Amino acid sequence: MRIDDLQTPAVLIESSRLKRNLDRMQAAVTARGRRLRPHAKTHKSPLVAEMQIARGAVGICCAKLGEAEVFADAGIMDIRLPYPLNPVNADRVLALADRVAFSFIVDDEGVARAWSDIARRAGRRLDVLIKVDVGFHRCGIDPNAGDAPSIVREVAALPGLRFKGLLSHAGHAYGASSDAEVEAIACAEARMLRGLASLSGVVCEELSVGATPTARFSIHQEGVTELRPGNYAYYDRMQVAVGSATWDDCALTVLARVVSRPATDRIIFDSGSKTLTSDAVKGRGNTAGHGAVLEEVHGSRPDDSLLIERLSEEHATVRIASGTSRLAIGDLVRIIPNHSCVVSNMVDTVWLVDGDVVVDRLPVAARGRIT
Ligand SMILES: Cc1ncc(COP(=O)(O)O)c(C=O)c1O
Repeated sequence: MRIDDLQTPAVLIESSRLKRNLDRMQAAVTARGRRLRPHAKTHKSPLVAEMQIARGAVGICCAKLGEAEVFADAGIMDIRLPYPLNPVNADRVLALADRVAFSFIVDDEGVARAWSDIARRAGRRLDVLIKVDVGFHRCGIDPNAGDAPSIVREVAALPGLRFKGLLSHAGHAYGASSDAEVEAIACAEARMLRGLASLSGVVCEELSVGATPTARFSIHQEGVTELRPGNYAYYDRMQVAVGSATWDDCALTVLARVVSRPATDRIIFDSGSKTLTSDAVKGRGNTAGHGAVLEEVHGSRPDDSLLIERLSEEHATVRIASGTSRLAIGDLVRIIPNHSCVVSNMVDTVWLVDGDVVVDRLPVAARGRIT
């Protein structure tokens, strides 16, 4: 089958780019003596997770229990949830911990105590890491707060828990305006984790950091044991904007079709917000619009004269800046989306392609597992 035979919109993964992205990240992390534990939220596919593990990844991360259950069913044996699980999920957590090496984060002493009690009642110990807020200001304990070291000591001493170490996610790196700023964020992240570990006096077997933009700098940071990038498998327009990828690295594209040309300066594609999603790009350069339309179906360069200006659920409204375009109704286009992780969550299947040829069909088995 060729890509022209696919129904549109369709999500394509360029097989050679995927493999190259996986190889490169694994090689960089291994060369520095660190462990790679990719976040599977990007691909949500046990087959891609197996490719990562075959290259040397120690396991995977998932965002939600539902995702972890899909990967455990598929035979992935080491799963970490860098997500603040609530004890209401005790049964599912114990069931997962029975069949795979399972760990998760806590960022609250009361919740940690509740997990410890649950584990003791079940005659178990649960593996946890403490989430540290290194500047993204989502979840995590404040490493600069006076009580942070004592929180680490108290959680580490809970009898139902096996304390593994500290974990962070520098999501604020996506807003950085230069490589130097991304590097400074990666340095500060590692410094905060090392500082807290040392002040607490508790042995931290793991200092786990993870985000695709910071990965190339985090591999050089003293004390970091594990990296958890996810997006690097596919990359996207956001990663190009923040400087962690080139257009040639972007493995995931949306194949769409021109369905209307209602005005000379306007084209409509069949890929709306249900495909491209409404995630915006932060970072540097040209960040306007809902994805980069490629100059050619088989090219890598974006056509800067086309701006995906507006999305309805099933339509992308594209403005032709130059006033003319080669595109006619029925033509295929390829789009590098702003954020590939959310795009793969929109489809049951992505298509592995080698140029023009569709080589395989990849079920996105953990898509939509949001509980
Ligand atoms: C806790 C955590 N770890 C790792 C990652 C992976 O980061 P990235 O998407 O930059 O690869 C994420 C992404 O949201 C995350 O939330």
